[in-house]
Amino acid sequence: SKGTYEFYMLKEIDEQPGVMRRLSQDYLDENGEPLVDQKIVDAVANADRIYIFAAGTSYHAGLVGKDLFEKYTGIPTEVGYASEAGYHFPIMSKRPLFIFLSQSGETADSRVVLKEANKRGITSLTMTNVEGSTLSREADFTMLLKAGPEIAVASTKAYTAQIALQAILAKAVGEKLANQDAKDFDLKHQLALAAEGIQEIVDGKERFAELAKKYLIASRNAFYIGRGIDHAVALEGALKLKEVSYIQTEGFAAAELKHGTISLIEDGTPVIALINDPVTADLTRGNIQEVTSRGASVITIVGKQFAKENDDVVLPDLNYYLSPLLTVVPTQLLAYYASKEKGLDVDKPRNLAKSVTVE
Ligand code: M6R
Repeated sequence: SKGTYEFYMLKEIDEQPGVMRRLSQDYLDENGEPLVDQKIVDAVANADRIYIFAAGTSYHAGLVGKDLFEKYTGIPTEVGYASEAGYHFPIMSKRPLFIFLSQSGETADSRVVLKEANKRGITSLTMTNVEGSTLSREADFTMLLKAGPEIAVASTKAYTAQIALQAILAKAVGEKLANQDAKDFDLKHQLALAAEGIQEIVDGKERFAELAKKYLIASRNAFYIGRGIDHAVALEGALKLKEVSYIQTEGFAAAELKHGTISLIEDGTPVIALINDPVTADLTRGNIQEVTSRGASVITIVGKQFAKENDDVVLPDLNYYLSPLLTVVPTQLLAYYASKEKGLDVDKPRNLAKSVTVE
């Protein structure tokens, strides 16, 4: 039940620290070693390429998963929209392994890809929140997200659970492959930091109500920008905001705006900039300058180590590859408050259903 909450979306945002702790407890032993079914670890470790398929927010979690798998296992990883791959099947490597990310486990677009994979004898793993769901039953293996029921149409805690679970699997597989980065990856500690960091952000949620009121609700459009892993979060932040607030929002690789889209920046256009990537932090600052000088109202969401005096939101420290676990939370809260301030039904945006069982 919603308890004292007006909407499930906020309840589910608030539950994320608990989800991080549960995943750590259930999938990592007291020494931080992954507790993942050995058959799954072997199947993934044997692959020469990982293919992740999903839709919507789960697809965005897959984009983060790509970086995690490549960093900690060294296995090249591709991410595709299930809806596209189903009818334009990608060229396969010799030993492909498919991962399906799906909160509901019922997404029709993903089922099409899995059917084709089964026809071709490709090994598959479903990461889902729903035990016994269709994608779980039809795949060779399942790993559960353990996020608890997600009721709001806008997905929040399933996204962070998918990232944490992919990190756990990446560490398990990487260790099996004797990957040094995987061995050095103190995931138990990092997930504890993530839980604390998310808690700190949600404890300060009033700030996001203010920012949403000041910058977003009167605007008809908005942009999220970021580079590296922040680009993936920019896409997710944009989906969340447009989905529940009806403010048309696009996520961009920060430097791409100037190749066309910057012509949409007017006085007061909200641009939300994400900075966690050490390699490109200064370059993103340059992109902020470009839009500011054309009138944009910029909100900065920045990892502590990159923070400057005037940044709007400063995120606690976390491993770069897990930084989306923190960065996404302000984007969820901005979306929530923008929708709520506009008087919309936050949990049930128009035209949408919780799980999309048609192609
Ligand atoms: O249940 P699934 O994770 O397969 O659902 C995929 C998308 O339909 C879902 O993430 C959708 O994009 C959400 N409404 C986004 O908040």
